[in-house]
Amino acid sequence: MAVSPQKSSIEGRDLRRAFGQGTMRSTALAGVSVDLYPGQFSLMMGPSGSGKSTLLAILSGLLRPDQGKVHSLGQDIWAMSEGQQEAFRLRHVGFIFQGYNLFGAFNAVQQLELVGRWGMSMGFWEARKKARQVLDMLGLGKKKHLRPSEMSGGEKQRVAIGRALMKDPELFFADEPTSALDWAHGEQVIELLRSAAHERGATVLCVAHDSRIIPYSDQVLHLEDGQLKGVVYPDGKSGRPEREEDKTHSIKSGLPGGDDEGWNKGRTGSRLYRTA
Ligand SMILES: Nc1ncnc2c1ncn2[C@@H]1O[C@H](COP(=O)(O)OP(=O)(O)O)[C@@H](O)[C@H]1O
Ligand SMILES: [Mg+2]
Repeated sequence: MAVSPQKSSIEGRDLRRAFGQGTMRSTALAGVSVDLYPGQFSLMMGPSGSGKSTLLAILSGLLRPDQGKVHSLGQDIWAMSEGQQEAFRLRHVGFIFQGYNLFGAFNAVQQLELVGRWGMSMGFWEARKKARQVLDMLGLGKKKHLRPSEMSGGEKQRVAIGRALMKDPELFFADEPTSALDWAHGEQVIELLRSAAHERGATVLCVAHDSRIIPYSDQVLHLEDGQLKGVVYPDGKSGRPEREEDKTHSIKSGLPGGDDEGWNKGRTGSRLYRTA
């Protein structure tokens, strides 16, 4: 059951981005504003070239917009230094891409251990234990010792998700994670992302083309020609959840000092809301 949070965890405002120079310059995003919520699985759809990957990269802190702002967990991420951005991503963000990005020489446990050890500063045994738990949870208990070349596409994608889950991130970004998979495996991937949202309270943004995914999602963002053409709520809600800024003022004033301490304190109890 989806949680209906009141406050967005990610707010993108008037995001614009173009690529190229002079006459070759083309607009990928022409002023898009979106809200994503903790505990929700947000699906982004639209034709090829409509700006989906560009928007996902901007919201996740990978690509700087030409204009516009992104508040993520209360922080203005494009006002941070590069070092702060990197620390923010490391601490809060999990990425899943189509190409899996697994290391060819390592088996499944090692792929996840690496994240624990180098991304999360876990000790060897702690990382190994957590890696095994996550793989078991993903139904890969018997595949722990396989290398990527010995796995199916669906298994590789689950390992890639496992790597993101090692961090138990508050924010999940997935760009076409199912496009190389058949429906049965794609559906498993979607189920995992949905449970990250619904059971762990994560904010999930997923780009996908398959309309069978729509019923799994809490909101569907339709992008076309670099613009947001509509937001649909598959569970029948007629409008978007009430936004904090609709009530009084901007998110900044709702999060004193722009820091995210409240979120982190909140993680041990309810992860969904600031405790402050
Ligand atoms: N790095 C880039 N350099 C030049 N053009 C780009 C780059 N990334 C995206 N674009 C262009 O921006 C537009 C939107 O691309 P993208 O966000 O990848 O769309 P989608 O993910 O919806 O297919 C396209 O016209 C694409 O060619
Ligand atoms: Mg794309």
